[in-house]
Amino acid sequence: MNRKDFIINSCAVCLSTTAISSLFTSCAATKYITGNLGKDGLTISKDEFRIKQKRSTTHRSLLIIRNDALQYPICVYRFNDQEYSALWMQCTHQGSELQASGDFLQCPAHGSEFNNKGKVTNGPADINLKTFPVTVTNNELFIDLRKQS
Ligand code: FES
Repeated sequence: MNRKDFIINSCAVCLSTTAISSLFTSCAATKYITGNLGKDGLTISKDEFRIKQKRSTTHRSLLIIRNDALQYPICVYRFNDQEYSALWMQCTHQGSELQASGDFLQCPAHGSEFNNKGKVTNGPADINLKTFPVTVTNNELFIDLRKQS
């Protein structure tokens, strides 16, 4: 093996190792729940965002509600204890299901991106995502599916 082949092979191994580790990191960070679907919307516990560690508690920044009764999942972002967003994970370009990636939702079909409030940040989509109001009561979030914007 000459020097050029060695560098190419080393880079390929390094890149694939990085890709695999980031895949596991993103899988570990995303939590999927079904929520409780009622007549008017979904209810989930705020505790679903909690991550208990040995000596402290942190919160995940998002979770995904995947319920058989819904055509698409809903991504719920947590900004603080009282502020959340609920985004319909259907791309507004041609309807593909979006993928959550940190503070962004990305479309695998043609690359559109949306921020954690549903606003388009990269086309070809030019319409923001459907969002639902989130009401916080005691330890529960109510996502009102009757009032989309
Ligand atoms: S369907 Fe999402 S960018 Fe085209």
